[in-house]
Amino acid sequence: MVTVTQYPSLRFCVAPMMDWTDRHCRAFHRALTSRARLYTEMVTTGAVVHGDRERLLGFEPLEHPVALQLGGSDPADLAAAARIGEGFGYDEINLNVGCPSDRVQSGRFGACLMREPELVADCVAAMGAAVRIPITVKCRLGVDDQDPEESLFNLVDASAAAGVSTFIIHARKAWLQGLSPKDNRDIPPLDYGLVARLKRERPDLTIVINGGIPSLAAAQAHLAEVDGVMLGRAAYHEPSILGVVDALIFGVQGGDTDPFTAVERYRPYMAGALARGVRLAAMTRHMLGLFHGRPGARAWRRILTTESIRPAAGLEVLDRALTAVRAPAADARLSTAA
Ligand SMILES: Cc1cc2nc3c(=O)[nH]c(=O)nc-3n(C[C@H](O)[C@H](O)[C@H](O)COP(=O)(O)O)c2cc1C
Repeated sequence: MVTVTQYPSLRFCVAPMMDWTDRHCRAFHRALTSRARLYTEMVTTGAVVHGDRERLLGFEPLEHPVALQLGGSDPADLAAAARIGEGFGYDEINLNVGCPSDRVQSGRFGACLMREPELVADCVAAMGAAVRIPITVKCRLGVDDQDPEESLFNLVDASAAAGVSTFIIHARKAWLQGLSPKDNRDIPPLDYGLVARLKRERPDLTIVINGGIPSLAAAQAHLAEVDGVMLGRAAYHEPSILGVVDALIFGVQGGDTDPFTAVERYRPYMAGALARGVRLAAMTRHMLGLFHGRPGARAWRRILTTESIRPAAGLEVLDRALTAVRAPAADARLSTAA
C-alpha cells in the first residue's frame, strides 16, 4: 500500500492544468519549492502511444517529484501509456476522472468515468500491473444527478479494490450538460465535508483534497482532516505561495524562497531552454504573477508581457523586469502618467 509517509510530497501538490503546467511551468515552480509534488497537463493515451513522445513527455530531472496525468479509458492503452511514462522517469501515474470537456466526454473518459467505477477499476488494475510506480486517481464527487455520497465512495472503493491507495478529490461534482470546463471549476458547489468524511471512513487510503483552496492558511486547515492538499489556480496565479510551502507545509528549516531567489534559481534553466530554441515568452508567461501584491508587480508583468514576445528576446528582458520591480516608485510614476 502506498502511504503518505512513503510519498510525503503528496502533502502539497500543484494541480495538473492543461496549457499551464507544461515543463517550463513545472521547472519554474520547482525553483520555488523543492518538496511539492508537481503534475503534468493531462496527456491522452492516444497521444502517448502514437505522438511525439519527447515533446509530450520529456522533462528535466530537477522537476522530481513529478507525476504524469493520463486521460483514457481503455485498460490496455492506459497500461501501455503508463509503462511509457514510467520509462521516462515519472514518479507517479495519475488517471484523470475529473475533466468535463466535450472532447473528453466523446472519448468516454475524464469526469464521465464517475459513472463507470468498474471500468475505472479495470483501468487502474491494468496500469498497476504494468508499472512499479504508484497509480493514483484524480476524480470529482460525481457527475450530474448522481448522489455524491454514492458516486464518490463507489469510485474510490472499486479503485481501491484494484490496488489504488491514493486519491485526489476535486471536491465538487462536474455537470456534464450545459457548463463549460471553466464554469465546471467554479459553479458546482464545493463539499469539503464529504472528502473529510471519506478520509475518516477509509483511514488507510491517502486522500488529497482539491478545489477552491485559496491560500496556505486554508491548505493547513485542510491538513488537519486529510493527508494532502492540491492547489491549482491559486498556485499558478500567485506562485510566491509556493515559496513558503517547504517551510510551512514540510517543516524545512530556512526553506523559504523569496521571488527574487526563485528567479535566480530558474535562470540557468531559462538560459538552457533559450539555447535549445525555446522562446522566452513560453517561460515568462508562467511567471507573470510572481510579484503579485508587491510593489512593482505591474511593471514586472508589463515588461514580461510586452517584451518577451519579441523575436530573439533573451534574459535581458528578465533583467529589465527585475530592475523595475526593485524600483517600484518609478513604476508607480509611470502608471500615474499612463
Ligand atoms: C487551465 C486549467 C486547466 C486544467 N486542466 C486539467 C487537467 O489537465 N487535468 C485535471 O485533472 N484537471 C485540470 N484542471 C483542474 C485542476 O486540476 C483543479 O482540479 C481545479 O482547477 C480545481 O482546483 P483549484 O480551485 O485549486 O484551481 C484544470 C484547471 C485549469 C484552471
